[in-house]
Amino acid sequence: RRGCGACTVMLFQPLFCQCRLAPSARLHHFAVTTVEGIGSTKSRLHPVQERISKSHGSQCGFCTPGIVMSMYTLLRNQPDPTVEEIENAFQGNLCRCTGYRPILQGFRTFARVSGGGDTVSPNCSLFQQVTLSPSLFNPEEFMPLDPTQEPIFPPELLQCIRELGWEGGSVVRNYLFQRLKDVPQKQLRFEGERVTWIQASTLTELLDLKAQCPEAKLVVGNTEIGIEMKFKNKLFPMIVCPAWIPELNAVEHGPEGISFGASCPLSSVEKILHEAVDKLPAYKTEVFKGVLEQLRWFAGIQVKSVASLGGNIITASPISDLNPVFMASGAKLTIVSAGTRRTVQMDHTFFPGYRKTLLAPEEVLLSIEIPYSREGEYFSAFKQASRREDDIAKVTCGMRVLFQPGTAQVKELALCYGGMADRTISALKTTQKQTANSWNEGLLQAVCAGLAEELHLSPDAPGGMVDFRRTLTLSFFFKFYLTVLQKLVILLPQNCAKLDPSDASATLLFQKDPPANVQLFQEVPEGQSEEDMVGRPLPHLASAMQASGEAVYCDDIPRYENELSLRLVTSTKAHAKITSIDISEAQTVPGFVCFISAEDVPGSNKTGILNDETVFAKDEVTCVGHIIGAVVTDTPEHAQRAAQGVKITYEELPAIITIKDAINNNSYHGSELKIGKGDLTKGFSEADNVVSGEVHIGGQEHFYLETHCTIAVPKGEQGEMELFVSTQNTMKTQSFVANMLGVPANRILVRVKRIGGGFGGKETRSTVVSTAVALAAYKTGRPVRCMLDRDEDMLITGGRHPFLAKYKVGFMKDGKVVALKVEHYSNAGNTMDLSQSIMERALLHMDNCYKIPNILGTGRLCKTNLSSNTAFRGFGGPQAMLIAEYWMSEVALTCGLPAEEVRRKNLYKEGDLTHFNQKLEAFTLSRCWDECLASSQYHARRSEIDKFNEENCWKKRGLCIIPTKFGISFGIPFLNQSGALIHVYTDGSVLLTHGGMEMGQGLHTKMIQVASRALKIPISKIYISETSTNTVPNTSPTAASVSTDLNGQAVYEACQTILKRLEPFKKKNPSGTWEEWVLAAYLDAVSLSATGFYKTPNLGYSFETNSGNPFHYFSYGVACSEVEIDCLTGDHKNLRTDIVMDVGSSLNPAIDIGQVEGAFVQGLGLFTLEELHYSPEGSLHTRGPSTYKIPAFGSIPIEFSVSLLRDCPNKKAIYASKAVGEPPLFLAASIFFAIKDAIHAARAKNPDCKMEKLFRLDSPATPEKIRNACVDQFTTLV
Ligand SMILES: Cc1cc2nc3c(=O)[nH]c(=O)nc-3n(C[C@H](O)[C@H](O)[C@H](O)COP(=O)(O)OP(=O)(O)OC[C@H]3O[C@@H](n4cnc5c(N)ncnc54)[C@H](O)[C@@H]3O)c2cc1C
Ligand code: FES
Repeated sequence: RRGCGACTVMLFQPLFCQCRLAPSARLHHFAVTTVEGIGSTKSRLHPVQERISKSHGSQCGFCTPGIVMSMYTLLRNQPDPTVEEIENAFQGNLCRCTGYRPILQGFRTFARVSGGGDTVSPNCSLFQQVTLSPSLFNPEEFMPLDPTQEPIFPPELLQCIRELGWEGGSVVRNYLFQRLKDVPQKQLRFEGERVTWIQASTLTELLDLKAQCPEAKLVVGNTEIGIEMKFKNKLFPMIVCPAWIPELNAVEHGPEGISFGASCPLSSVEKILHEAVDKLPAYKTEVFKGVLEQLRWFAGIQVKSVASLGGNIITASPISDLNPVFMASGAKLTIVSAGTRRTVQMDHTFFPGYRKTLLAPEEVLLSIEIPYSREGEYFSAFKQASRREDDIAKVTCGMRVLFQPGTAQVKELALCYGGMADRTISALKTTQKQTANSWNEGLLQAVCAGLAEELHLSPDAPGGMVDFRRTLTLSFFFKFYLTVLQKLVILLPQNCAKLDPSDASATLLFQKDPPANVQLFQEVPEGQSEEDMVGRPLPHLASAMQASGEAVYCDDIPRYENELSLRLVTSTKAHAKITSIDISEAQTVPGFVCFISAEDVPGSNKTGILNDETVFAKDEVTCVGHIIGAVVTDTPEHAQRAAQGVKITYEELPAIITIKDAINNNSYHGSELKIGKGDLTKGFSEADNVVSGEVHIGGQEHFYLETHCTIAVPKGEQGEMELFVSTQNTMKTQSFVANMLGVPANRILVRVKRIGGGFGGKETRSTVVSTAVALAAYKTGRPVRCMLDRDEDMLITGGRHPFLAKYKVGFMKDGKVVALKVEHYSNAGNTMDLSQSIMERALLHMDNCYKIPNILGTGRLCKTNLSSNTAFRGFGGPQAMLIAEYWMSEVALTCGLPAEEVRRKNLYKEGDLTHFNQKLEAFTLSRCWDECLASSQYHARRSEIDKFNEENCWKKRGLCIIPTKFGISFGIPFLNQSGALIHVYTDGSVLLTHGGMEMGQGLHTKMIQVASRALKIPISKIYISETSTNTVPNTSPTAASVSTDLNGQAVYEACQTILKRLEPFKKKNPSGTWEEWVLAAYLDAVSLSATGFYKTPNLGYSFETNSGNPFHYFSYGVACSEVEIDCLTGDHKNLRTDIVMDVGSSLNPAIDIGQVEGAFVQGLGLFTLEELHYSPEGSLHTRGPSTYKIPAFGSIPIEFSVSLLRDCPNKKAIYASKAVGEPPLFLAASIFFAIKDAIHAARAKNPDCKMEKLFRLDSPATPEKIRNACVDQFTTLV
């Protein structure tokens, strides 16, 4: 979907290499290199592949090929990159597993000055006392990069470059186009089923084509048109590509500016403008710097290297980042058609309407001239988006002022905005009044008042965030005002008022600081055998294959000869009766085979964890995305067209969308859940203070990089069917399919090799796809495949439950909490799925780490018309713990005490009973707290931050330390079981199978480590091929962080059985080898196959009696985070995070640290970034990476250190380890509360606005919420 970068490949152009996204017809003149083309485990990995693998930068591996190709491409262009260049290379790549640090750290070894802060030594004496491994990997083991060994450019073009000498891209580029001009080019024509693609070779040819067929669509980079065709179902029967026409690629340095051909890719524009800024006098390049500032945060390299300058202008997007800059600067556009040529200046008339320009249909944009700025002219550009990197703007602008020579008197002022109307606009009314005014406070006030009036947005304006956007227009002008004033003060000290130094912080542009990372873990004890890999940072065993593209995911399985494709047909209404389904149009699509629906189900159409769902909706739909049927065709493309051809009519019914709607309508699943202890009335009456309030925590999309996928293969005998599924739950996949088909479970085989991320999203919801695909395979008797597109996946399969809490907390003056009541409401969606268990876990975590003598928690599952929400890493725990920390922060604020002190005062101690009466044993939280406090230098930094906040008016810093305690076990006791199967072959090799799925968390690697220690054989002798229902039956889902504990113990048991059987042969031949003992056993007819089984003991909690243990044990951790917010824009920077995490005796510190960092960054997304937007009618707006922003490379803390608590063996799990998948996620709340701390500082500094100490900040703390909470003269103006 152009945005996650997983599909990145490298294209050789004659002169430079690019990571690109482009339609295949556009690839003429290019050589394509994919990840498979640069190295392989069969021959030799490329150093890029080797380094990402050995530095633990690949977990599920689905993003890895794209990341490898971005790095490889950078090295092809720049074999000697800087750290900054390396970090910038990944602006268009996303990873949902790793937390990015290991990828960057591994690749920084390619940097000119290696390390980039990696060698930062922990300055806490604590760390120096223990034996710590210096690094999770050894860079000395890495193969050197040898650029001479790479595939070469086409020799003919290499020759052309040599003739010229390499002098930089723009010169070479111009030369090439000069040269191409003389070579007769051929027109290329591709005829598709419905579209003709013509690559025009000359300008005349292009203009003739446009004259003959004005509606022909020009396509250069296809980054707009591609989306319109794929996602908005637009069809352009004739496409003309002008990408190779010399005039449209020419770059000319003229007397008034630099002129770029309209097809110039944005990456070239960026390069050429950088060159100009370096060469020309500073006063001439003000506009260029503005363009560059916009391009800095414009999409990723993949998009920039293909998207054209002309495409951006002509798309006429109301949120284009470049058009406000061009309009404000007065850029000139040359427009041509057959026989005509005109040049116009881009002004407020250029965009006459939504996505419209002045161009007539037969006209083409030839070039754009970006002007040099003049003396006395200043220019700035600003953009605010949800995420800094690769995100579209909420508001974007270009601002220019020209002064009368030698004065501070305005001659011209232009303020142009995107995001404030249906087109790019110029605030003419406001600016025209400023001519001849002086650049002073009076002008500032007048412009702000003018903008507040002129740039109006109606409350229901598309894009929402009305107050935020309006405030931004003023904030940006204020920044511009101060930036210009700063320069004028130097030039005209007499004419200008001095700038208050505390205001200077408003003018600073975002700068990346050098990163620093530390990972600390305890080395294995001295004397541990070299072969014993337990406790060592062994790389994920599939990582090399993942890095080379050899790893097979579900959709990589080659197509079967007679395979069909399935596409789901889903509801467009949140709640409605289905009145008719018309498939006649779909039937006309070539390759159409059939439409399937509830009528076709041979067994039961009822499905779901609580049997409250349908395979296909029958008469009524209860959410947008509800599956009604599916089309089956010969290809995925035809399936997409056929699905669009199914016409459904509805009779709409009232819909409930939000938690508030559900409360108002008393719409719930099940009854109220409750947990309580102590005497609440007494507690509140004894309290010195009582605070009550509400907080909302938004949902979260899993955004696994591999979307849901199933291939179902009917076997033709007795109802047998084999399914390859991307699922965390083979058992439910099997039983739901069997139930739907009406066959016994023993006919259904489910196989999973690996999945490209799950995070809970494939625990139950994968079955909605696999059951439908199985039905299609049953009906057609042919293999059927379906992999959801990202937008379908986001729409259909639900995510993390949003929560609303109403809390009341009673506490003493010293901050000691004595009474707490919290009412929790979750948005469960249209069916129950796992919502009850999720709410139960929330209630069991509502204390986070605090002892509260009198407590009552209630929980209600709101029944709404949204897709059913489901499991997501943390399973309700993070929401409940955020609520706990929320009221805790209010307790501290109300008492006027340091938050750290109040938290500490309320922490549990060893031996305490929780509110659910479980005794806390081996309670390591206090140690985590002390170590984190020390390693983060909390107290010293608190003082530094207070000083920073005193000195800076518009940037504020915040600091917060947060603990977590996470209960380990499935909430339903019987799920805490697992099985393993081990086969030993006569050559001594071992095939291991267990009940868990490999989804990036390194489970198979850990299981092999366990088996290797148990059997005392090297890991190279052990192999795991897949997880399947015919090897280990009745498996619990791979979830709840317990898979290593459960399966590890089962593997151990299976190994013990084998060892017992081998014992006589070892005794007989004590100096023999493993292979000899195995062979001897075989020859003695001893079975070399064994199962292992494990059940967690002593579980069984009752909510009725509030007794019995829900958890086997707890995982603990503490994080301290520091942030800096920009009070004017709401932007924030994660400056530093220190984590201390108890993972017991780590089975594999590299994997465990990877889990800590990955979970933390996913939590960072949850609490600060990721926002799902729905229409009031319940339709999800955020259906892809362009609108839903997960953390990117630049989102992670600049300084990031993770320390695994030492000497804390856990006697309750395999080899003294602890669960790690979910517990660290909540630690990202330290960032949320650091932001809240910084906002508090901003509000405290503003005596004009009398503000309450307590203020509401819902999660996620997005730029909008941060800006709106930083109340100031601008927020009060709008
Ligand atoms: C992942 C992603 C991120 C993005 N991020 C940003 C961002 O941060 N900021 C931003 O402003 N935009 C962003 N965009 C939008 C997009 O990059 C720009 O609009 C881009 O410049 C379009 O160029 P193109 O060559 O791909 O256009 P195409 O899709 O090829 O064409 C776009 C339109 O321009 C017309 N056109 C192209 N050339 C000419 C010409 N010479 N004469 C007349 N008409 C012409 C086409 O007919 C078509 O209507 C993003 C897009 C994607 C997919
Ligand atoms: S390893 Fe990057 S998405 Fe899984």
